[in-house]
Amino acid sequence: MSEPLRPAPLRLGIAGLGTVGIGVLKILRKEAAMLTARTGRDITVTAICARNRGKDRGVPLDGYAWEDDPVTLATRDDVDVFVELMGGSDGPAKAATEAALNAGKDVVTANKAMLAVHGQALAEQAEGAGRVIRFEAAVAGGIPVVKALTEGLAGNNVTRILGVMNGTCNYILTRMQSAGLPYDIVFQEASDLGYLEADPNLDVGGIDAGHKLALLASIAFGTRVAFDDMELEGIGRITIDDIRAAEDMGYKIKLLGVSKMTDRGLEQRMAPCLVPATSPLGQLEGGTNMVVLEGDAVGQIVLRGAGAGEGPTASAVLGDICDIARGFRLPVFGQPADSLRDATPAVSTTPAPYYVRLTLQDKPGALAKVASVLAEAEVSIHRMRQYDHTGGRAPVLIVTHKTPRKALDKALQGMAATGVVEGEPVALRIEAV
Ligand code: NAP
Ligand code: HSE
Repeated sequence: MSEPLRPAPLRLGIAGLGTVGIGVLKILRKEAAMLTARTGRDITVTAICARNRGKDRGVPLDGYAWEDDPVTLATRDDVDVFVELMGGSDGPAKAATEAALNAGKDVVTANKAMLAVHGQALAEQAEGAGRVIRFEAAVAGGIPVVKALTEGLAGNNVTRILGVMNGTCNYILTRMQSAGLPYDIVFQEASDLGYLEADPNLDVGGIDAGHKLALLASIAFGTRVAFDDMELEGIGRITIDDIRAAEDMGYKIKLLGVSKMTDRGLEQRMAPCLVPATSPLGQLEGGTNMVVLEGDAVGQIVLRGAGAGEGPTASAVLGDICDIARGFRLPVFGQPADSLRDATPAVSTTPAPYYVRLTLQDKPGALAKVASVLAEAEVSIHRMRQYDHTGGRAPVLIVTHKTPRKALDKALQGMAATGVVEGEPVALRIEAV
């Protein structure tokens, strides 16, 4: 009897040998037998590419062909899957991804910036050519949330996605809280620890997390990626006073992403919010990520894990590579790209309770003026706390009942005109989780 035919090896070309790329190479080298057993075929690396050929990367690279140009790597005849681990929304990452698809290769990438900006066009190109683009590592690092949404929850109408998807911001906020340190000091600490992206605004400006949320929203709601429509606010204005005050009212401050489909359109926000301190999101410490998925049939699912780093991110890349090796193929965003709808951005967000911190002058009637401005804007106070005066002024915290953001903005404008509120009040949404 003849031996059954062994499938040909799956041959990878890897562009980018930084944190993620080297993590992927290490797993491929160490776990080759396990990966073959699981997928039924060998997974090999044909060629690699980075900027600096001479750099010691702590892994022997002499068994792989070297290319200086990612496009040349991506289009080699002996590469089946182009693994893009360089980063950047445009430039070589996009050029090489397009070239790989043109040349009939599948693509695995960890690049949320590229997909948040060019995801629709790349998905159309891939599907037109019968190829796949897989991007598990692009969203929440090691957490298999793309798989959870596209596969495990395929039978649900997703009602809401929320989550903490930037570990650096969560590290900064929780470290400010635990050490009682101001933002600037902790930002510097995060920088010294190497946590920040080369452009730190991608992290603290909420952009990196916004990219991730936009990708999940596309899968969840069957809509084209709409990062530009997202309401985006970073953590740079959060002070230690806000963190302490929120804690005193029973909340934690998180850079929280929320996406839901409403009858007014698609709501997408990535902004600092208050969540109950006792909730799973409230208890999330350090650089960990958490994504909460809600579906009409399943209810609520909470996924928690490392959102970054060599091992967790490489784990996600390997999951995608193994799927391709097994012959498992899906449209990029879970349904054919040409069937994704344009998302109408929601013009106003769902009413929510808000936390407002303001500095009030110590004058008779000052609090009454603030209360009257809130009443005129039809914003109802749920809880209020005033602290001791120092130097003729006192911090006041207000938690409102559910109110539309528009009404709150009217009240905030009114406060500025009272003459008894100093500086700009801080207003943060309180998210039900
Ligand atoms: P990284 O450590 O900065 O590595 C980037 C790699 O790309 C380097 O090896 C660099 O070469 C190479 N590269 C850059 N420009 C190139 C070019 N023009 N031609 C050839 N090679 C080029 O980045 P990383 O942290 O591994 O991130 C890679 C991707 O994964 C990004 O899209 C990132 O957003 C995503 N991601 C990262 C993490 C994480 O924890 N790090 C988590 C999730 C997703 P040299 O080494 O020679 O400079
Ligand atoms: N800069 C990201 C974070 C890691 O801090 O979570 C890469 O997605």
